[in-house]
Order: sequence, then C-alpha cells, then structure tokens
Amino acid sequence: MPELVRFSKKGAIGVITVDNPPVNALSPGVPEGILAGLEKGNADPEVKAMVLIGAGRGFIAGADIKHLGKPRPPGFKRTHDVIEANEKPVVAAIHGFALGGGLENALGCHYRVAVRSAKVGLPEVLIGVLPGGGGTQRLPRLIGPKAALEIIVTGRHVPAEEAKQLGILDEVVEDGELLERAIEFAERIADKRPIPRIRDMDEKLAEAKADPGMFDEMRRKIARRARNQIAPYQCIKCVEAAVSLPFDQGIQRERELFEEIVNGEEAKALRYAFFAEREAAKLPDIPKDTPVVDVKLAAVVGAGTMGGGIAMSFADFGYPVRILEKDKETLDKGMARIRANYETSVKRGSLDAEEMERRLARIEPVLEYSQIADADIVIEAVFEEMGVKKEVFATLDRTMKDGALIVSNTSALDIDEIAAATKRPGVVAGAHFFSPANVMKLLEIVKGAKSDKTTIATLSQLSKKIGKVGVVCGNCDGFLANRSRAPFNTEMNILVEEGALPEQIDKVMVDFGYPMGPFAVGDLAGLDIGYAGRKRRQKENPNAYRALPIADRIVEMGRYGQKTGKGWYRYEPGDRTPHPDPEVTALIRQMSAELGVPQREFTDEEILRRLLFSSVNEACKILEEGIAYRASDVDVMWLYGFGFPRYRGGLMYWADQIGVKEVYRQVEEWHREYGDRWKPAELLRRLAESGTSFREAQPGR
Ligand code: 3HC
Ligand code: NAI
Repeated sequence: MPELVRFSKKGAIGVITVDNPPVNALSPGVPEGILAGLEKGNADPEVKAMVLIGAGRGFIAGADIKHLGKPRPPGFKRTHDVIEANEKPVVAAIHGFALGGGLENALGCHYRVAVRSAKVGLPEVLIGVLPGGGGTQRLPRLIGPKAALEIIVTGRHVPAEEAKQLGILDEVVEDGELLERAIEFAERIADKRPIPRIRDMDEKLAEAKADPGMFDEMRRKIARRARNQIAPYQCIKCVEAAVSLPFDQGIQRERELFEEIVNGEEAKALRYAFFAEREAAKLPDIPKDTPVVDVKLAAVVGAGTMGGGIAMSFADFGYPVRILEKDKETLDKGMARIRANYETSVKRGSLDAEEMERRLARIEPVLEYSQIADADIVIEAVFEEMGVKKEVFATLDRTMKDGALIVSNTSALDIDEIAAATKRPGVVAGAHFFSPANVMKLLEIVKGAKSDKTTIATLSQLSKKIGKVGVVCGNCDGFLANRSRAPFNTEMNILVEEGALPEQIDKVMVDFGYPMGPFAVGDLAGLDIGYAGRKRRQKENPNAYRALPIADRIVEMGRYGQKTGKGWYRYEPGDRTPHPDPEVTALIRQMSAELGVPQREFTDEEILRRLLFSSVNEACKILEEGIAYRASDVDVMWLYGFGFPRYRGGLMYWADQIGVKEVYRQVEEWHREYGDRWKPAELLRRLAESGTSFREAQPGR
C-alpha cells in the first residue's frame, strides 16, 4: 500500500504531505495519516511549526464522496478540530483545489498560503449535503456570515486572489513556489503567540447579529432556484447557528443537520449525478492510451446561430479559432452577433471588457477554405440539409491537412452518409452542441461506423478542455439526446389535443424542477425550427412520424415564439414572461373538436408520467440498440442538454426511483390504450421481469 500521507522535515518545519491521487480526497487512511503526521511533528523538539500540503494536482478536494454517509470507523477524530487545537502552528499550503473537507482542514490550520491559480470553496451543497467538517462555523467567523453564506449556499469555487481579499487566505504566492514560500511563512510565524484559532474569532459575527434579516433574505433569493431542495436551506440554518450558538454547540448543530440529509434522496441523486458525469468520460471500447490529436487551432464552417456559439466556446477556453462563411455579408453579421453576445455578458457583469476583447481577438473570420486548412479540428455548422453538408465535407476533405478531425454539428443527419462524402471517414464524427452553444454544457459526440478511436478519444478529451461534458453515443436519427427526447415532444402535443393546456403542462414540469416548461422553451428557441425539422422528416419518411397539427397551425399562423411576440403564449414587448393566450386556448379547443379527439382532464402526475415515461421507453430502445454505453449517459445528456433537475439524478435514475416494474406496467397500460407509440421496449420488459434497475442494465457493452 502506498503511503497516503508522508511526514518530512525542512529545518524547523515539519511537512505533512497528503498523497492520495488523483485529487487527494479524504479517503479512509488520509485523516488518520494527517493526525499521525501531526503527532510526529509534535513529538520532535526541533519542529517549531508545520505545513500541510497536497502532492500532485492539488491540496485536498474534500471528503471521499464514495464514502459519504457511511459510518465512521470507531475512534475517528475530526482532523480540523485536532489541527486547530495543536500547540505548534500549522500552515495550509494550497495549490489546485481546497474544496469541502479540504478547505475545512485548511480552516482548522492556523494560517493559509496559496498559489495564484488555486481555488477554494465549500461545494457540498452541489452534492446535496452541507460542509460538515466545521466549515459552516469557521468560515463565517473568518470572513463574516454574509460572505460565508454566499460561498456556502452557491458552492462556487473562489479564486485565490479573491479568497485573499475576503480574508480566507493569508498570503498568495506565485505558482511553482508553494512549498518554499509556505516553509518561509511557517518559519516567520513559528514563534508567534497567541496562535490564531478561528473558533475564537467572534468579532465578524456581530455583522449578522446587527442584521438578523440576512438569512431570510437569502432564503428568498434562492427560493426559485432551490425549490424542492433541502441542502441549501440546511446550509443557511448552519450559518445561522454559527451566529447564535457558541462554537462547540454550532459544530454539534452542523453535525445534526448534516446527518439529517447525507443519506436523503436529494444527496443520493446528486452523488449519482456527480459520478455519472465522470463515468461518461469512460469509453469501454477505446483504450485509455489511444493517441489523440493535439488541438491547437480550431475552425468552424458556418457563422450562424450555432457556428458562432461554437467558435465562442473555443475562444472562451483560450483556443484560436477561424470561422468561415460563404459570403462577406453573412460573415460580418455572424461576427457582429458574436460580439453582441459577449457584450451582453459584459453588461450583466459576468465578463470584463478586456477579457471580451481577448476572446474576440482569438476568433478570426475567413472566407476561403485554404485559410482553415491548417486547423487541427473543423466543426461544420451549416444548414441542416444533407446536400449542403456533403458538399462542405467534400470540400473539407480536399483542403484540410492530414490528421485534422472533420466533424459535424448536425442535430440528426446520418453521420455515415456525411462521412462517405470524404475519403477519410475515420476522422469524421458528430460533435453536437446544444443551443446556445457557448452556454449549454452538453457535447454529444456521435461515433460513426467508421470513426476511428483517435477521433472519438480526441473529442471526448477536447470537450472537457472547452468546458463541456462530452457524452459519446452511436449514430441514429436524432442520436441519443434528441431521439430520447422526441417522444416527450410528441406526447406534450398529444396531451394538448386531448384537453390539457400548455400552461398546465408547463406548470407541472416547472414544479417538477425544470427551469422552464417545455412550451415556454419552444417559444424561446423558436417554433419554426422544430416545424422545419418536422416537415423534413415527414417528407423523408412519411409514415414514421406522427403529425402534430396544432403545433403546425401555431407556426403557420406566424406565431414563432418570443421573436414574433406570440407562440404558445403571448409576450409583451421587451418582456420574456409568457402569458397564456385565450386565442391559443380557443384554437386548441377548436382544432381538437375538428380532429374529433375526446377531451378530458389530467392530473399532474399523469402529465409528468406521460412525458417522461415515453422518453424512458425510447431510451430503453436506444440502450438495447447499443447506441448508448449505459443508462447513466442518458441521464448526463438530460441534465446538461435539457435542464432536467439535477437533484432528481436524471431521467433514468428518476425512473429507477419509481421502479422498473411500475414503469413497465404503466407503459404496457398505455400501449393497450394508445397503440403502437407506447409499445414497450424489449429491454424494458426484460428488466421489469428480472427486476433489474436501469442503472444496472448495460446492454450496450
Ligand atoms: N471524492 C471521491 N472521488 C473524487 C472526488 C471526491 N471528493 N473528487 C474527485 N474525485 C474523483 C472523480 O470521480 C474522478 O475519478 P475518475 O478518474 O475515476 O473518474 C477523479 O477524482 C478526477 O476528478 P475530475 O475528473 O472531476 O477532475 P477535475 O480535475 O475535472 O476536477 C475537482 C477536480 C474540481 C476537484 C472535481 O473533481 C470536484 O469538484 N470534486 C468534488 C469536490 C467536492 O464536492 N468536494 C466536497 C466533498 S463533500 C465533503 O467534503 C464533505 C465534508 O464537508 C464533510
Ligand atoms: P443557421 O442557419 O443559423 O446557420 C447556418 C450558417 O451556415 C448560415 O450562416 C449560412 O450562411 C452558413 N452556410 C450555409 N452553407 C454554407 C457553406 N456552404 N459554407 C459556409 N457557410 C455556409 O443554422 P444553425 O441553427 O446555426 O444550425 C447549423 C447546424 O447546427 C445545423 O446542422 C443544425 O441542425 C445544427 N444545430 C442547430 C441547433 C439550433 O438550436 N439551432 C442545435 C444543435 C444543432
């Protein structure tokens, strides 16, 4: 067994090094190792102070999430409390990340030094728990309850410079000099007494005593975002306890509130989502040592809605990118739209003007293919028409340098047919971004029949480098994400034909946890886009798709959504709030009567199940066809592509909570009632019969 924690000496300074790759999580053995290191330093009369540091990529990323909620070994001691009580001062030396239990141990230390690139934070809320290692009691004492509350409730990573200003860090040093500088720091403070202990610092708490309303204000602020959730509110209660109770009682309260939620539904779902996201990067058919293309320069063909957003995604993460259009006027328009998007961020305060200019400078508009020939990857984002795509791919095949990846952002077209337009189908694949491409984190990577391993491995790694979550799937109409979502879209329209109204359906989904209802999302994205796709598919394959007459009529009336001030809802000028429109209600009632569809009322539960079970059933078909590696990949796509509430784990995880047998029973019932579109997937039937959960099913392997 490699040693998880080492102790060494540099003159009068003891150095305790945590070495538990990849992120120095506090797995069993690590806390014990830290305490053993501390004892060694205490026992050595030469040692006057100690430094706690992490080996490898960072300081400590927190508790080992795999072990959260499991009982502690007998005699377990809380390291942060022991460190804080130590008679010899301890300095935390931070690089990479000090998160969760990592920062909590650093707060137990008497001083904190970090490199400029380091980040600190208490992200526990994001996995459905609260900082249970004293973080909710120490951080408010160190930086004041208001600032602490914001950090704890958002779970955000705080950059070193800001952490210094807030008072979390005592010193920021240059990257690469951490150990040296931390030792110097420790030498400077070695004899300084009294040793600063955060538990004794009460002055900053006065701020909240003078403003007791701050906690309710925070509750109000997060009410919408945190609806249906518990952890953010438990976090607030903890900080309240820090203000109202003596330190030791506050710690006790933090512990109780932590225990209340650590094994609750929300925490389990969020832990699942954390690991599902990382699992998605594991590609069972692609060896880990597969060589990848070193992407230094990217190119995008098509400067429309998606092309612009894709170029921004590269520029945002430091990549130079060239963007090609067919004529100067369209290119200028595309560049103007990119600038306008950045300017909106500057106005909102989420981007500074200088950074905007740096990003814009990375995007070079061009008109000739020869100007993108030396790019390492080119992403095609032209019109969704096979003929146009083929022409572009044939041209790219003639012009791109050897070894370049040539990928398409198509939403649904056959990747193999596109690849066949080139003589190098191995470097062709789908790289399906979601709109707006610079914001949405999902990147659906579509493996064509001939895509080679290097192509897919490169896209998978590249996705992370441009801030995306890459999920690999096979080639089929709509790929994994849109195909699994399609029955939901059909079903919401059929529900309207049967008597439900868009506002009722939207409310059910918002109450469930979606940021917006599906009809309001349609209005936002533009209903004409879905309409065009529908018409194309119906033309190509007249019997495969159900007609959606009401949705079609809405578009044919010129109601494209927000951009025309009317869609499923009506909008006041300059306001994005959807208002139910009596005109739409009348139209729905009239068309349903014309269609002869019997009208009835729906319960919220029925609406929810109709929409989501239809997609679960389709996802089962996708899984049995081997289009997805695993059910959790469907979940990751729904979380990052469609705004499925993360604290419900994802579509398939949620269905597992209901139980595969119940899902099958319901689908079978609707199959009898509604016919073929509800035909249960073979896999669903098999899982229900064997009682196997979706999570355990791996038919794609
Ligand atoms: N526990 C267990 N495994 C962890 C982990 C943790 N806290 N953090 C990361 N890992 C694992 C990942 O699962 C992944 O494993 P894999 O290679 O087998 O897939 C590996 O470490 C690398 O992780 P990433 O791919 O995420 O690496 P990145 O460099 O992209 O990100 C990170 C690093 C920012 C540290 C990110 O991993 C992260 O956010 N980790 C979780 C941090 C966190 O939530 N900490 C709080 C834990 S709860 C806690 O401390 C409770 C306490 O208050 C009582
Ligand atoms: P768009 O119409 O906004 O942009 C397409 C751009 O491509 C136009 O600017 C056009 O001038 C340019 N173009 C067309 N032919 C060209 C050629 N031969 N050479 C160079 N440029 C050419 O379309 P949008 O919405 O950006 O879609 C692009 C692709 O992305 C499509 O395949 C679409 O299916 C896909 N997609 C669209 C999403 C969306 O929500 N809009 C989401 C995900 C994928």
